[in-house]
Amino acid sequence: MNEKILVLYASKTGYSKKYARWIADELDCRIARADMFDTDYLMYYETVIFGGGVYALHINGLKAITKNKGWLRGKHVHIFACGATPPRQEDMDKIFRANFTHEEQKRVRFYYFRGGFCYEKLPATDKALMSLLKMRLKYKKSLSEDEAGMLNAFEKPADFTDKRNIAPLIQAVEKEIKNTLHSPMAIK
Ligand SMILES: Cc1cc2nc3c(=O)[nH]c(=O)nc-3n(C[C@H](O)[C@H](O)[C@H](O)COP(=O)(O)O)c2cc1C
Repeated sequence: MNEKILVLYASKTGYSKKYARWIADELDCRIARADMFDTDYLMYYETVIFGGGVYALHINGLKAITKNKGWLRGKHVHIFACGATPPRQEDMDKIFRANFTHEEQKRVRFYYFRGGFCYEKLPATDKALMSLLKMRLKYKKSLSEDEAGMLNAFEKPADFTDKRNIAPLIQAVEKEIKNTLHSPMAIK
């Protein structure tokens, strides 16, 4: 097991968790729920990967990590956001800007993995919010492709997760490991 890599996740309906599991299996490293993890222990890791669902642009659970002032200190940080909509550069940029300060934007590597939508598994507060949206969509005259997809997903959960999406993240982490092994500091 690679003791220097940690995967953390926050997932309301299981999509981010699925990606986090795939990543941890691929990198053979530890995985934990972000809200169950004491961030004081972040300092023991060289690479931290965090993933969470997108809720009105915000990455769920990210605050649990960023509240620790030293969360970026001396480590590689990879963050993935998992939303229901297809990966569109404009939307991904919006999510990136909404969740990270300018300083953080320079330091984190950011990815967007498409998740899905499962109304049944949502916590009660989100269910209430989504019921309002459903009503609004039902009576709207014309729907965008995203809105139509959303309306359908109320009846039948949608799952767009795909293990292949994690490839760029895995490659980036593997490259970092290789560079660390070959750095003069590592030889000493
Ligand atoms: C209240 C609410 C707001 C949402 N906002 C967005 C959004 O802004 N963009 C998006 O792509 N998906 C949005 N979604 C869909 C979730 O991001 C999607 O279901 C995601 O896969 C959930 O991941 P999780 O199960 O790991 O929490 C929203 C869902 C809910 C319930």
